[in-house]
Amino acid sequence: MADTKGRFASRLDPRALAFSSSLPVDKLLYREDIEGSLAHLAMLAKRRIIKRRDAAVIRKALLEIRREIASGSLSLDVPARGGKRFAAEDIHMLIEERLIRKVGAVGGVLHTARSRNDQVALDERLYLRTALDDVCSAINALQRSFLASALKHQTIVMPGYTHLQQAQPILLAHHLLAYVAMLGRDAERFVDCRKRVNRSPLGAGALAGTSFPISRTDTADALGFDAVLENSIDAVSDRDVQIEFIGCCAVMMMHLSRFAEELVLWSSLEWGFAEIGDAYTTGSSIMPQKKNPDMAELIRGKSGRVYGDLMALLTVMKGLPLSYNRDMQEDKEPLFDAARTSADCLEIARLMLDSTKFRAARFEEDWRSDFLLATELADYLVRKGMPFRKAHGIAGQIVRDCLAKKVRLGALPLKSYRTYSPLFSADLFIWIDIRESIRRKRSAGSTSPKEVAAAIHRWKMKLRT
Ligand code: ARG
Repeated sequence: MADTKGRFASRLDPRALAFSSSLPVDKLLYREDIEGSLAHLAMLAKRRIIKRRDAAVIRKALLEIRREIASGSLSLDVPARGGKRFAAEDIHMLIEERLIRKVGAVGGVLHTARSRNDQVALDERLYLRTALDDVCSAINALQRSFLASALKHQTIVMPGYTHLQQAQPILLAHHLLAYVAMLGRDAERFVDCRKRVNRSPLGAGALAGTSFPISRTDTADALGFDAVLENSIDAVSDRDVQIEFIGCCAVMMMHLSRFAEELVLWSSLEWGFAEIGDAYTTGSSIMPQKKNPDMAELIRGKSGRVYGDLMALLTVMKGLPLSYNRDMQEDKEPLFDAARTSADCLEIARLMLDSTKFRAARFEEDWRSDFLLATELADYLVRKGMPFRKAHGIAGQIVRDCLAKKVRLGALPLKSYRTYSPLFSADLFIWIDIRESIRRKRSAGSTSPKEVAAAIHRWKMKLRT
């Protein structure tokens, strides 16, 4: 504490205070801090650990402080070095100092049976609950956008890729629904993480608990927790749920980044498949023709930041002896950054997707996309009795010859086909039609219009659009 009282003969060097203060970062927690204090205060009064009259005075002042901070009349900004005074060591001290200035020494009873160690652990869990709920609703909104786009583009055909090589024809809607599924698992991960987040550390004290007759379940109930974190040492020592949350963000960002990458590719001149709305693209300062997919690139880039947040906190925690160590103050930047970045990226991804137009005939116009049907050609011969391996070889040969002659598979006459195998007959041409090939898929979860429509229906029910 930046104080001359107590154990210390001299004040903390202002440079040490500036170095160690977490206020510029943890000021974000002021609402949670006051919410936690109000619950602690009510419990202290109820258990007759403090006087009801004092509790009422403190409660009123805490509500006032919340209003002052929200309105900006109480500034949480740290004066620049050399300024009058560094505001406080952290948000918890700032609020307590302000309280004592308002109500006098009686304000000091609030911290009875509490330590900043359980206080900060509590604040972060309250913060995490909101962050989790925000991320989950942003995921839901993005899923609904993917679903709407799938619905709108149900008939557009595109190549499915492996190794970024055209592989087999698919419906764009099927591709978009793959992201709905990924995001669905992301949401599940966050929901699961919330169970572990929603336990109260309050009442653990510094680490050993307290001799005051507190009720940990009272405060846990008042704050909407499912349970208390039983072991007081564990309650103040760990940051595993913070790490888990950032981990969930990192996986989700990996998914967003892959979609962003696809949009970058698809909107290139070479692909010419998608056009992101003007409001989500930027021009070049020198090349007038440019329309750059900056938002997609930034989502891709920011995924790297979130991975960094995860590594940062894992590394901060890895060598720490139990219980609290000041190193743990470093958890907030990665935590807040991951939460904010994830929510921002989810929103921008959604807006960008909503603005994106697809060129419906892009691949059907391109004669080379016919070779997406090479597998169909091989399957055709298999149906006529040829072993697959041999059929694969013949189909490959046909593709090679057609490429050399620059003709599509569908343009090669039956006569030519029969020089490769007498098994080819006139029904072949139904088999090597792109739309037919998609329609013929019948396995569950496949790209056939029927399966895709069923998937859209299932997601609609699930996401309640
Ligand atoms: N600002 C500190 C943090 O975020 C609060 C807890 C401080 N506790 C302590 N014993 N120094 O970690």
